Amino acid sequence: MTAGTGQEAGARRVLVLNGPNLGRLGKREPAIYGTATFADLTDLCQRAGRELGLSVEVRQTDYEGELIGWIHEACDNALPVVLNPAAFTHYSIALMDAVKMRTAPLVEVHISNISAREGFRHQSVITGSATGIIAGFGFRSYVLALHAIKSELDKR
Ligand code: DQA
Repeated sequence: MTAGTGQEAGARRVLVLNGPNLGRLGKREPAIYGTATFADLTDLCQRAGRELGLSVEVRQTDYEGELIGWIHEACDNALPVVLNPAAFTHYSIALMDAVKMRTAPLVEVHISNISAREGFRHQSVITGSATGIIAGFGFRSYVLALHAIKSELDKR
């Protein structure tokens, strides 16, 4: 699912990549993830991007291979990434290996605070290969991650 491109002439491109079940936001465990939808999340990221002078492209997939392909695309084009790997966070060595090849800042995000949830969610195989991680702030985790990307790009 490519939810939106938010392309702006001259703005630095950033990919916001989302893993499995995040397309179901709004319907999915609202007590944990809230009632706002993936379309709302896309709008929020694109608005934040515009304010930061970034051209934000938001995508979601339920397929590990597709997500890995998008990370390869980011690596080949030096594109910064905001990545919510969803359940892949906790076990996908293949996704971790892809993230290790990154050529630009990559911020891992989670809507929920994974360290405050079930034990199996405490481990992320991705964090060690990311620039950093932001978790537990609801959809605002993505906005904070875009600010972190902007600040990483500005310091280069
Ligand atoms: C999540 C946390 C993961 O543990 C879970 O599997 C998700 C969403 C989050 O954004 O809070 O799908 O990544």
